Amino acid sequence: MADALQLDRVVYDAWAELAHAVVKRQHAFHTPTFVSLDLDGAPVARTVVMRAVSTERAEIRCHTDRRSPKIREITRDPRVSWHFYAPELKLQLRLKASATAHFDDQVADDAWAKSSLSSRRCYLAPSSPGAECAQPSPNLPEHLLGRVPTLEESLPGRENFSVISTTVDEMDWLWLAADGHRRARFTRVGTEWRGSWIEA
Ligand SMILES: Cc1cc2nc3c(=O)[nH]c(=O)nc-3n(C[C@H](O)[C@H](O)[C@H](O)COP(=O)(O)O)c2cc1C
Repeated sequence: MADALQLDRVVYDAWAELAHAVVKRQHAFHTPTFVSLDLDGAPVARTVVMRAVSTERAEIRCHTDRRSPKIREITRDPRVSWHFYAPELKLQLRLKASATAHFDDQVADDAWAKSSLSSRRCYLAPSSPGAECAQPSPNLPEHLLGRVPTLEESLPGRENFSVISTTVDEMDWLWLAADGHRRARFTRVGTEWRGSWIEA
């Protein structure tokens, strides 16, 4: 099967799998690792939920609190990476991308309009994520512990909500197989992906 692998098919299938994982919550690609550079230039990794994929725009989006450190980090240096591994597919994807934060624009408005009340609850956190606290704290208003907000209660969360949009420039594709792993590297040139096989 691996002998029949073709570079254009490989990159097409990889994007199809990413798009599929947005809507399939059990898919391992649904919760990738997102890496940015902290204010000293050191890499910082964290899990996020992948919220949208556009194959045409080579774009991957996630949502976050606009007060979170990752927003400051990508504003200072937009270079980011995504890491995905799906054991059921034996497939690892490592993507290099450039990130932009959306707060008070149509992109953020549209994503907020589509977000569930349980997702909106995260954005009602009284304190900035990462702020020190005297004891273990869920950082939620007292009255929302153990329940989702009503639509009206969720509305103040909008000002803390943001969308991180990333445009992918490079993909490192690694497929594990008993008869030998296969690896390819792709670079985006406009809307095209130029690929080459590389040693696994
Ligand atoms: C399964 C899982 C999903 C998560 N999804 C998100 C997410 O979509 N957005 C987000 O900001 N944080 C998410 N987090 C929390 C982040 O991993 C991280 O702890 C938090 O965003 C603080 O990151 P920062 O201090 O680097 O900004 C998730 C954590 C886990 C374990």
